[in-house]
Amino acid sequence: MKTIQTTPFTDQRPGTSGLRKKTRVFMQPSYLENFVQAVFDTVREDTPGGFGAETLVVGGDGRYYNREATRTILLMAAANGFGRVLVGRGGILSTPAVSAVIRRRDALGGLVLSASHNPGGLEADFGIKYNVRNGGPAPEGVTGRVYEHTLKLTRYLTLEDADIDLEHEGTVRLGKTEVTIIDPLADYTSIMEELFDFELLRVLFQSGFRMRFDAMSAVTGPYARHILEERLGAQYGTVVNAEPLEDFGGHHPDPNLVYAAELVEHLSGVDAPDFGAACDGDGDRNLILGRDFFVTPGDSLAVIAEHAQSAIHGYRAGLAGVARSMPTSTAADRVAESLGVPCYETPTGWKFFGNLMDAGLCTICGEESFGTGSNHVREKDGLWAVLCWLSILASTRLGVAEVVRQHWQRFGRSYYQRHDYEGLEVAAATQMVDALRDRLPALAGIELAGSRVARADDFSYTDPVDGGVSAHQGLRILLEDGSRIVCRLSGTGTQGATLRLYVERYLKDGGEGAVEEILAPLAQAARELIELRERCGTDVPSIIT
Ligand code: G1P
Ligand code: ZN
Repeated sequence: MKTIQTTPFTDQRPGTSGLRKKTRVFMQPSYLENFVQAVFDTVREDTPGGFGAETLVVGGDGRYYNREATRTILLMAAANGFGRVLVGRGGILSTPAVSAVIRRRDALGGLVLSASHNPGGLEADFGIKYNVRNGGPAPEGVTGRVYEHTLKLTRYLTLEDADIDLEHEGTVRLGKTEVTIIDPLADYTSIMEELFDFELLRVLFQSGFRMRFDAMSAVTGPYARHILEERLGAQYGTVVNAEPLEDFGGHHPDPNLVYAAELVEHLSGVDAPDFGAACDGDGDRNLILGRDFFVTPGDSLAVIAEHAQSAIHGYRAGLAGVARSMPTSTAADRVAESLGVPCYETPTGWKFFGNLMDAGLCTICGEESFGTGSNHVREKDGLWAVLCWLSILASTRLGVAEVVRQHWQRFGRSYYQRHDYEGLEVAAATQMVDALRDRLPALAGIELAGSRVARADDFSYTDPVDGGVSAHQGLRILLEDGSRIVCRLSGTGTQGATLRLYVERYLKDGGEGAVEEILAPLAQAARELIELRERCGTDVPSIIT
């Protein structure tokens, strides 16, 4: 065992989803090591018995530096005294699979190596996140203490370099630690089999149903191939871009209309498959498409909640509750109301759903950022959402568009968009949001986008389970006609600041309007209100999703 002297880095504060930086930042000597040691030091404070009887799970999305980081972590985990470490073969585990393994193997926690949907490669992004015993991202109390540890760290513990074969399943010893290389698909697939009626889905594919799944050269390729093609009998070739690549083929592995344009194109026209789907770099996000039809993430969450009990085996007992992040469209709220269950509104980021689920308050949850999931794990789960949709299509015998149109007829429609303004100057962007925050009290009653401001506030969340308060989670401007504008700065970006403006307009019986037209006045009002051009020199969104 070696104790290596080190000096703190001052920029290791975890964001919305762990620590994300440029890959080269992570490759600096001691950078990764410091953060991992800070995690271990923090977690040890909460583990009075020490790590000797505990299991740590390690896996990542296969991006550049994944393997090297995995080896570094294995040596450090052994030096820090973990009894057992479980690693996905090749250092690979999708984010929901890490969560599944932690839960099924009763691990203390896990380290996920990923920058999610951010591009990978030497010149792109890398990330690391700690998940706790329930399988979900560490809560803010823990990540805050990790940051404090990073600021005062003086040493980290590791072992003499050892040659670890990550490519084959099996068990080796590193010092006193047992390191087991596991099949990255096994635990995850078992959970899917428990939740979904695979036989029903096999019958769907046998009936000639056609689908295209784009793994975006990222981690879901092997999972989707195994489950969709090998287990459910979807035609070979259903899963495209199935080989995980270190740089995701140079693409942005973010499943939305812009970055999954090839899939969108493939789903257009009369000869298109019945169903299209994609997942992001680490497999927790999803995009759902019908023929010539895009399902917004807010609608997808609402539709899954609406049909869960009748169409999905694992939810036949009904839902305890539904949850969505604050900026996410209110479509799920209306379904929850009709089901007679609560709908919780949480801050952005998956970590807030965990407490609700552990307490049995919520079964299904989601975010506008193409994340949907349930209490089967404590991460959002891309392939799970795809299997939900397959189950709904199999049980209703309708097409994707018909399912959504029926939903709009019954519940009305939330027109929804998110406008991102990337690469803004950090100081200017922060001042801009601060200035609008100061003006919020004065906004009530003013005219905006053809309606009037009913309420304007800075969203603060009190966790109903542990009473923890998370303040400053986004500025909300609620209009009298039910429309909303939400502004917040991204907590996952790695360069400059990203402003997110979310706009929503609810129409009770307006199923077929043009989204852009309906939302343009709100988007413009939002830009003007926050003085985007004056303060940041731009008012052209980098991307609209
Ligand atoms: C973004 C999304 C958020 C999601 C997170 C991690 O965070 O907006 O919904 O949970 O990525 O995937 P943000 O950059 O907005 O802080
Ligand atoms: Zn992700």
